[in-house]
Amino acid sequence: MQVDADDVVTRGGSRVSEAGAGWHCGTPARHAELPDGVQRFSWRHPRVLWRSRNDVIAKVFGDPSHAMRRKWVATLAERDADPAFTIVREQPEFSFLLLGDTGEGDRSQYAVVPPMLAVGADTDFMVVCSDVIYPAGELDGYPGKFFRPYADYQAPIYAIPGNHDWYDGLTGFMRVFCDVTGDAEPPPWRGPLGPLLRRLWWRPGPAAAATLAEVGKWRADERRHPFQPGPYWAVDTPSLRIVGIDTGITGGIDRDQAAWLRRVSAGDKPKLLVTGKPLYVDDSSRPGPIEGGGTIDEIVRDPDHHYVAAIGGDIHNYQRYPVPVGDRVIQYVVSGGGGAFMHATHTIPKTTVVDEGGFRCYPLRGDSLSRYSRLYGRWTRLSRLFELTPAEAARVVSHRLGMPTTRPDGGVSPRPSLRARLVAVLLGVPRRHRHRPRLLRLPVRRLPQRFRSELADWDRPPFFKNFLRVNVTETELTIRCYGVTGCGENELDPPCEDEVTISLR
Ligand SMILES: [Fe+2]
Repeated sequence: MQVDADDVVTRGGSRVSEAGAGWHCGTPARHAELPDGVQRFSWRHPRVLWRSRNDVIAKVFGDPSHAMRRKWVATLAERDADPAFTIVREQPEFSFLLLGDTGEGDRSQYAVVPPMLAVGADTDFMVVCSDVIYPAGELDGYPGKFFRPYADYQAPIYAIPGNHDWYDGLTGFMRVFCDVTGDAEPPPWRGPLGPLLRRLWWRPGPAAAATLAEVGKWRADERRHPFQPGPYWAVDTPSLRIVGIDTGITGGIDRDQAAWLRRVSAGDKPKLLVTGKPLYVDDSSRPGPIEGGGTIDEIVRDPDHHYVAAIGGDIHNYQRYPVPVGDRVIQYVVSGGGGAFMHATHTIPKTTVVDEGGFRCYPLRGDSLSRYSRLYGRWTRLSRLFELTPAEAARVVSHRLGMPTTRPDGGVSPRPSLRARLVAVLLGVPRRHRHRPRLLRLPVRRLPQRFRSELADWDRPPFFKNFLRVNVTETELTIRCYGVTGCGENELDPPCEDEVTISLR
């Protein structure tokens, strides 16, 4: 399978102009009118912090998701579920939408919906890839953060869980997507106090009767909300097999899921992996450990498995790495900008895992730096020090990484000002290929979830959200990344920020 060499087409958008990035909005967007009852999502709320406590617990006491997933799968097996966990579709030509990290239920999630419907209302199904519900996958979040935002999408929606969906032990996810009720108890924790602490802390709590009734009402339309075989699954078509895996809280998979993954990966049919955690991100490889040995990426790279691409959520932006593997190229994609707060791209060094010329990201590093400089300016009340215009930010990124600006309006001055260079250092723009954090650097990526989310979540354009539309024919797979600016002029005609076509022959 060959990937076209000049495979990227951009039609307007952030790579062409500041207006295309959404910096100068002309008309208000429809998302400004939100349905009644939509609330601002805030990580400052004590209840939100308490409900996401299992993030800390899993890191201290060990990730319990492998053992708990086995219990969920055992429950499915008792129902005589097909062990192949496969949805069969007869059509060789089809299309689907892919949204990553959606579930905050606030304005930034709703902003994605009109452009998504404008571009993808005719698609055959949709996949939500990672973090369906923030902060903790709870069932009572589903009406406002999943069912209602996508109520106008008429085709089936499937999902794979992200780390946040596991913070309630996957209880809400299994109820909504797999029709399984009950709980999966985590295994005993390490240490003498482990069992006691587990009982005190890891308790999703029963869902209220009103919540169950409301979820049941939304789920009544089984054409749009069909039950999927399990937390991991495959969609098998005559031309392509899409394989969705559940990477739990910390990014690995259990040995039973790995055995299933090897089974569904066998054979000549081209395959596309959809994963909660990306295998390449921020210019580094994260191969994804398998319980007992081996990695997810080893399975993807195996030439007998014929993977053409691997798309992961978890990181809330878009990145694409066309990685040479033997005589092939596998497209490794990050697509987590489907609704939640934005992760910075300006901290990505000039790429080394692939040539920078083949790498794509959205937002552009300069736009990401400009956005963060404004946020830091507002937070510190030092906006005259921090704030960089998009053009200033693009120039200083170009200067530090030693490469030309992406769009022409950023490349006016060959040398950025001392202030711009200081802000770039403070906000973590690396020097060329350098990955190591600098002493002067302010926190941008390595912040606790609460502070990072607060810093990077905003309700005004440009949003820099993204979604994918994937078109499949008998001979080709095309992945298009659409940018969501939040501006009215882009709402029904969102810019295509990246496009790659892969031969399936
Ligand atoms: Fe996320």
